[in-house]
Amino acid sequence: MNIHIMTLFPEMFEGPMGSSMIKRGREDGLLTLEYYHIREFSKNKHQKVDDYPYGGGSGMVMTPQPIMDAYRHIKSRCKGSKPRTIYLTPKGKLFHQGMAEELAKEEELIFLCGHYEGVDQRVIDEIVTDEVSIGDYVLTGGELPAMVMIDAIARMIPGFLSCDEAYEDESIYSGLLEYPQYTRPREFEGNKVPEVLLSGDHEKVRLWRRKKSLEVTAEKRPDLYEKYSLSKEEEKLLKKKK
Ligand code: ADE
Repeated sequence: MNIHIMTLFPEMFEGPMGSSMIKRGREDGLLTLEYYHIREFSKNKHQKVDDYPYGGGSGMVMTPQPIMDAYRHIKSRCKGSKPRTIYLTPKGKLFHQGMAEELAKEEELIFLCGHYEGVDQRVIDEIVTDEVSIGDYVLTGGELPAMVMIDAIARMIPGFLSCDEAYEDESIYSGLLEYPQYTRPREFEGNKVPEVLLSGDHEKVRLWRRKKSLEVTAEKRPDLYEKYSLSKEEEKLLKKKK
């Protein structure tokens, strides 16, 4: 997958996109990341990229010319005729795991990171295929949301996760939150690891984890729990005394 990012702050991406698993994915050739500094495409003699909003109001709006020129430059380097172009905005559709999975199937993705009061609407109308928000709060720009999305999308690319990191039974994917995890030592500062996890009985461990998943989801995310339909086995598990 080739990811193209239009931004006023390419340096913000260096740490998160150059470390850990995203770094490994890039080294393994599963994804490429390219940054396009919007200011460098400005034809204004002071390389201005924003201006006052028509009709008045507070703040500045990003002007169309530098973004459109950056976009055309990117498009000439992309396979396909209309690459998915994502604009990060609190006015967008809420990002979720299913969207990450769907976007992971694309060969090329373009991200447009906004700043100030946003981007001239004509740019959005012309090039944006998806307006996406990562949550109901307002950030200072689209860079952090783009990185959040890229991280979630990258790990859905086939081959990115090894078999033992498989995502099928992790939080959210199955519709439930994940069960609690423990590692050594068996006892830490007086707190013991639940006995069943030491039993070596795989079936018992599986049932305990499933029950915990259901309990944790009901407690922390009643909205998810409500949508989840219990299997016969799960109904039985919940009826059983602790
Ligand atoms: N830009 C500013 N806030 C945002 C948010 N919550 N999601 C996506 N883009 C944003």
